[in-house]
Amino acid sequence: MDRYRLAFGHRWVQGAGLFLAALPLIAADSLWIPPYEYPYADVLSPAVYHQRRQQLLRSLGPRSLLLVVAAERHLRNGDVYYPYRQNSWLWYLTGIPEPNTILLLSSEGIQVQEQRVHALAFIPERNPRHERWEGARMGPVEAERLLGITALPRSAFDSLLLQILATTDTLYLLGLPTPLLRLPVSGRPFSIEQQETEWLRERFPQLVARRGFPPLVQLRAQKDTAELRLLRRAIAITGEALQALWHTARPGMSERDLQILLESELRRRGAEDVAFPTIVAAGPNACILHYTNGHRRIADGDLVLIDCGAQYAGYAADITRTIPISGYFTAEQRTLYNIVLEAQDSAIAACRPGVPFALPHQRAVAVLERRLRQLGILDTGSNVRHYFPHATSHHLGLDVHDVGPTDTLRPGYVITVEPGVYVPPGSPCDQRWWGIGIRIEDVVHITDNGAEILSAAIPRRPEEVEALLHVNRP
Ligand code: GLY
Ligand code: MN
Ligand code: MN
Repeated sequence: MDRYRLAFGHRWVQGAGLFLAALPLIAADSLWIPPYEYPYADVLSPAVYHQRRQQLLRSLGPRSLLLVVAAERHLRNGDVYYPYRQNSWLWYLTGIPEPNTILLLSSEGIQVQEQRVHALAFIPERNPRHERWEGARMGPVEAERLLGITALPRSAFDSLLLQILATTDTLYLLGLPTPLLRLPVSGRPFSIEQQETEWLRERFPQLVARRGFPPLVQLRAQKDTAELRLLRRAIAITGEALQALWHTARPGMSERDLQILLESELRRRGAEDVAFPTIVAAGPNACILHYTNGHRRIADGDLVLIDCGAQYAGYAADITRTIPISGYFTAEQRTLYNIVLEAQDSAIAACRPGVPFALPHQRAVAVLERRLRQLGILDTGSNVRHYFPHATSHHLGLDVHDVGPTDTLRPGYVITVEPGVYVPPGSPCDQRWWGIGIRIEDVVHITDNGAEILSAAIPRRPEEVEALLHVNRP
């Protein structure tokens, strides 16, 4: 209620919030602007962003401009929006969390008052009327103060861009909304990129516009010290939350119960969000790779596959553990669990700089193929892809499936190693295997001469998992 007292200066208006909210906020505009606080607990130093931009500028040819557009806000209905998340390009280069922002990186520099800058952000100015509804926002002043980037009001962008483009030969565009839409009635394609390119071509015939900028993909793949710290924190939070969940998970709970418990444990430890929709899949649901339905009541004897990750200061964890809800693996579950573990150990052992990106996957497949054949699950007529239909590794960073080259592993890469075996009911093998789904997913950092498992503290051996499940159980 303090807000209303401040705004109107009358005690009698307290409690009349809804009515007041509908009034034009004339007086409020001049009286109160909420203080701005950066929404993420961990703020990187301006020097980190500066260094990334400098590194990128060194790869930008003469008369070149990199233009990064912020993620769009997505309307859910009426005036209600989906939670906003900045796109990872802009996040990586600036840390600015605001929509309607644009970043320019210019090889030639842009004159802003007395100085020539190579990085310039355009951010909507603060607006007390909007902020009464939606809370404080970062404006150009806050961006300069907190993140150390030269910033102008978004309204200055249009005219300045036209001047800059007149002396630009190559324009790299990043963050454009969904590149290709299908119009819903006619089915005709509509390309935002094409529309923008045509607009540019008409006005600036000398200009070559390109989508994306490969040096930025390479830079994002090779994690810097600041990123490794945030990734370690996201992974530690996720590991602690998983173990807290193991202490409380019991048969009779629903998959959704476990999801909610896990996510509250993540948030209690500082995660601002989940990095992707949490997967809690019990029994045969574990054979559905990205299962999120959540309705199954977990039965005695079920395996539960939990694939989850905190988002911490923008960075994603991505960990999977598969646990026997009753506290012990059955013989069949243990057999398959151990071959997934063996495949994972073999894949992790292959992680080192200079080898093909696909090598850990090939190692995992080789183990699974051999073991499934020995068990008679895979016969000569069937393919291992029936039981292991996904890849073993992807880059991890600001995005759960992060950008990065997939030719060779290089120092600084952070990748997942996540083999699995899934035997959907009805598979061409003995019925005793049906309905078992297991994935074990860890995160590996490729170092100068080998690899480091960033998630090593999260137990994954079957005896360790069982021991943790027995804590708090009679
Ligand atoms: N959580 C999605 C994945 O493991 O790739
Ligand atoms: Mn995962
Ligand atoms: Mn993954």
